Amino acid sequence: MSSKILIAYATTDGHTLEICRRLQGIAEGDNHEVTLHELQAGDGLDVSSFDRIVVGASIRYGKHKPEVKEFIDKNQSALESKPSAFFSVNAVARKPAKKTAETNPYVRKFLSKISWQPPLVGIFAGKIDYPAYGAFDRTMIRFIMWMGKGPTDPTGTFEFTDWDSVDEFGEKISQMSL
Ligand SMILES: Cc1cc2nc3c(=O)[nH]c(=O)nc-3n(C[C@H](O)[C@H](O)[C@H](O)COP(=O)(O)O)c2cc1C
Repeated sequence: MSSKILIAYATTDGHTLEICRRLQGIAEGDNHEVTLHELQAGDGLDVSSFDRIVVGASIRYGKHKPEVKEFIDKNQSALESKPSAFFSVNAVARKPAKKTAETNPYVRKFLSKISWQPPLVGIFAGKIDYPAYGAFDRTMIRFIMWMGKGPTDPTGTFEFTDWDSVDEFGEKISQMSL
């Protein structure tokens, strides 16, 4: 059955938005109507007209942006009464041992801090685009990657996202019963 899907997201460098657009394509292919909404501090979006709600956000320096928790807390009853899902994008999720809700440290911690327990959780490895970062962020993320035995070539761009698993997540969103 066709439905109205909200994908509310927070991104810094745009990769989470790319994932949202991919989810949008899957849902529209299944005849759903999709609204993408970038979360802001003090977000006043009225979610009442949506049938399904997806929240997605990236990790930077160990955390999702504060507007993500703010939105979730504010809309908890809607999130609990409609089919809903959460996804996180981070570099650590490139490691097979750290890409589930139980094993990804950021998602575990985040879910322990919010009351909403999303019935569907997606964890996607992100993208490291060294040339696109300023000097400080480039140095910091190179260090983070070096600690995790990831690529550190400052001229390189590394996309770790498993698009098949994004597509699978998109199909699950479309299929959640209303
Ligand atoms: C400055 C910086 C800090 C980051 N910190 C982390 C981190 O602490 N842990 C992690 O797993 N990934 C970290 N990442 C990787 C991001 O989660 C990844 O690049 C993601 O694709 C960013 O998504 P966005 O473009 O939607 O913001 C960091 C990336 C940057 C540039």
